[in-house]
Amino acid sequence: MGYICSEETEELIEAVREFCDHEVREQAKEYDRTGEWPKEIYDKAMEMQLHMMDIPEAYGGLGLDKLSIAAILEEMAKADAGFALTFSVSNIGLKSVFMAGTEAQKKKFCDTIISGKFSGFALTEPQAGSDAAAGRTTAKKDGDSYVLNGRKCFITNGGVAGIYVVTAMTDKSKGIKGMSAFLVEDGTPGFTYGKHEDKMGIRGSRTCDLVFDDCRIPAENLLGKEGEGFKIAMQTLDVSRTFIGCMAVGIAQRAMEEAIAYGKERIQFGKPIVSNQAIAFKLADMEIQIETARQMVAHAACTLMEMGRPYGKESAIAKAYGGDVAMKVTSEAIQIFGGYGYSREYPVEKLMRDAKIYQIFEGTNEIQRVVIANHLLKEY
Ligand code: CAA
Repeated sequence: MGYICSEETEELIEAVREFCDHEVREQAKEYDRTGEWPKEIYDKAMEMQLHMMDIPEAYGGLGLDKLSIAAILEEMAKADAGFALTFSVSNIGLKSVFMAGTEAQKKKFCDTIISGKFSGFALTEPQAGSDAAAGRTTAKKDGDSYVLNGRKCFITNGGVAGIYVVTAMTDKSKGIKGMSAFLVEDGTPGFTYGKHEDKMGIRGSRTCDLVFDDCRIPAENLLGKEGEGFKIAMQTLDVSRTFIGCMAVGIAQRAMEEAIAYGKERIQFGKPIVSNQAIAFKLADMEIQIETARQMVAHAACTLMEMGRPYGKESAIAKAYGGDVAMKVTSEAIQIFGGYGYSREYPVEKLMRDAKIYQIFEGTNEIQRVVIANHLLKEY
């Protein structure tokens, strides 16, 4: 079972599956080991216009609906979650720009991505993770410019993106209401990259610090109005978390498929281990969780498409449940593989390493529960 998509999307999913089978799945083993950025693979994926999925047709993109994007990202994550993440995160900044940006900003952002660059979204700082409002990066107005100073950390696509949405305090005395959001282009003087993270998983994606040292940007790069940055960031995450959920489902689906294939081949006590209910029931439980998570993602994606309907809670559930399912299913897949599952020779240990971050980034699963509870307390 999967998403119910149009015939056109089904064809695209099939093309993506074929691409991932030939160009990503096996290759991911090597770049998982080395941590190298697989530029050639990303270049080929861009030839398929996978970086343009979320860009509206009017701006030169594919303009796919949210459900189709979720289905495609799941497929990509089955091959390699880091690979899928690079594309998904490139769509986060895009969401901020389409929520709050001017026509010129929308065009610039889309043109940059279409030209073959990714984008990034920079909210997190060393002391401002879950407490996103505690950011210390500042943006001081100076004539027709803003001057940025500070450091962002754990920024996906850092160093490989052409343009970033960056939050910074324009008036610290106002707290949350003093946070603003800006567009910052790669190569702007005063903007450099800090340390690259040597991560446990999703090693095909880039993560690094962004450093702003008297970085001067045109005042027209302000997104929305001064003081709207926190709201823009929160509303953006409300959307993007749905897509974390679908990639987590992709990881879990792959782990289950690997466990089934191995369990049918592995003979112990004279029979394949899947003929033991202890193993078969594990597989059944995996399927229950995966399909439930997928349907939650689909529900969240459909909610996003219904203009005007609140979606923050649905998106948070899709993210939190999807991430938890990916972690449980990959762990159980290793259990089915036994000692071999713990070895790097087999694919499932990578899946568990990749899965773990899905409980952490774009708001930990504990923060998702804060978001969900806040919605509940308002609803009832
Ligand atoms: N939509 C619109 N407005 C929102 C909102 C939302 N989803 N959430 C909060 N707000 C508004 C509130 O209405 C409130 O406004 P008023 O003062 O006018 O009432 C204001 O923002 C403050 O709200 P809270 O008191 O709820 O804010 P908080 O400081 O307690 O934080 C939080 C709430 C949910 C914990 C939030 O801080 C959060 O989501 N934290 C996790 C951050 C996160 O996900 N970080 C990952 C970023 S990804 C990244 O940077 C790197 C990358 O590579 C992608």
